[in-house]
Amino acid sequence: MAVKITETILRDAHQSLIATRMTTEQMLPIIDKMDKVGYHSVECWGGATFDASLRFLKEDPWERLRKLRAGFKNTKLQMLFRGQNILGYNHYSDDVVEYFVQKSIANGIDIIRIFDCFNDLRNLETAVKAANKEKGHAQIALSYTLGDAYTLDYWKDTARRIEEMGADSLCIKDMAGLLVPYEAEKLVKALKEGTKLPIQLHTHYTSGVASMTYLKAVEAGCDIIDTAISPFSMGTSQPATEVMVETFKGTQYDTGLDQNLLAEIADYFRPMQEEALKTGLLNPKVMGVNIKTLLYQVPGGMLSNLVSQLKEAHAEDKYYQVLEEIPRVRKDFGEPPLVTPSSQIVGTQAVLNVLQGERYKMITKESKKVLGGEFGQTIKPFNPEVQKKAIGDAEPITCRPADKIAPQLAKFEEDIKEWKQQDEDVLSYALFPQVAMEFFKYRQAQQTKVDVNAADTKNQAYPV
Ligand code: CO
Repeated sequence: MAVKITETILRDAHQSLIATRMTTEQMLPIIDKMDKVGYHSVECWGGATFDASLRFLKEDPWERLRKLRAGFKNTKLQMLFRGQNILGYNHYSDDVVEYFVQKSIANGIDIIRIFDCFNDLRNLETAVKAANKEKGHAQIALSYTLGDAYTLDYWKDTARRIEEMGADSLCIKDMAGLLVPYEAEKLVKALKEGTKLPIQLHTHYTSGVASMTYLKAVEAGCDIIDTAISPFSMGTSQPATEVMVETFKGTQYDTGLDQNLLAEIADYFRPMQEEALKTGLLNPKVMGVNIKTLLYQVPGGMLSNLVSQLKEAHAEDKYYQVLEEIPRVRKDFGEPPLVTPSSQIVGTQAVLNVLQGERYKMITKESKKVLGGEFGQTIKPFNPEVQKKAIGDAEPITCRPADKIAPQLAKFEEDIKEWKQQDEDVLSYALFPQVAMEFFKYRQAQQTKVDVNAADTKNQAYPV
């Protein structure tokens, strides 16, 4: 069967390579061509794009989505959604999750890829149900990781449970590039035994094996792969779209995509890549093969965060000590996958453990939340000594964490009523209160400016 392609240039590719800084204006001119390709979907929203739009680009992410929707007339639009964390870093109440899903679909999203950093399926329930209700495609992603608890049977059983939950498809989300080709073959075969759902594979080139992994996965029955148009492919991004299309040409997996059209799209993005290299936004280092990611099982994005944290603390010489501390902290925390937000929490705690010269002398607020069960259940139990240090005699949460969170929407509505210009504003504020408020103020100031200019012109045209 023809393998299908999800193009990531408008979300993960620029998130992974240029810190999510691609603007809507940079995207719009090429959409017409992209819409003619015949992709399975274009991933273009969610993940870090929402935060980055508001924070750095001073853009309304909802407005971006509506513009993309208007341009993509034939192509499904896809977003990445962190379960009960939505696009933020904390758990939110169910009413916020439901409303976010509803508005994402109403503004143009077709496919919502939903994952949880612990693979605690309870944290996906609300989002999946909401997507089903809004007639969106709910894809549940397994956060792929390594460790003795993560057996093929575990993955297979999880796939079965995902199907039962009402997912429309399943994704293997290999954010760190840990999935090597022959393991991918075994994993896809096992998942196919556990579920009838279509299987999509998402990986990163970080460790250099990604295109081989796709080849073996597709041969094993994987239905859809995530790729990025060549100027923003490889390194910490995905394998190149054109390369995978050419690989399968003339075989039973032939994608049928037109290389000439893909070449025109690549030509559009190439100057953007060159410019990013010139300004330093794109660091050539992230384009290479980083084998440390396999040795330490740490995602590429986490490695670069680590370097900057240590730089700030003038402790760059502690890099390898921290790299060795990360798997130990991960173990204490029940061996979760390392993906937003668990990657940041484990990484920061590991840095503290090394810099303080004593493990868990200082425990971050987020680590305390994890060890108190506020992010859900990990595959293995927490280290009881570390847990005791973190939360003392407090009773850890064992139920679905959101069951402990009262509805939040009404209060958020109240907070922003002076600034609200569209229904969606309350969701921007719910996720990033400070950043959204700054954006609302900026937006209003811009509008006042425009009004004043318009008034000036009017006065000039009709002098009194
Ligand atoms: Co990714």
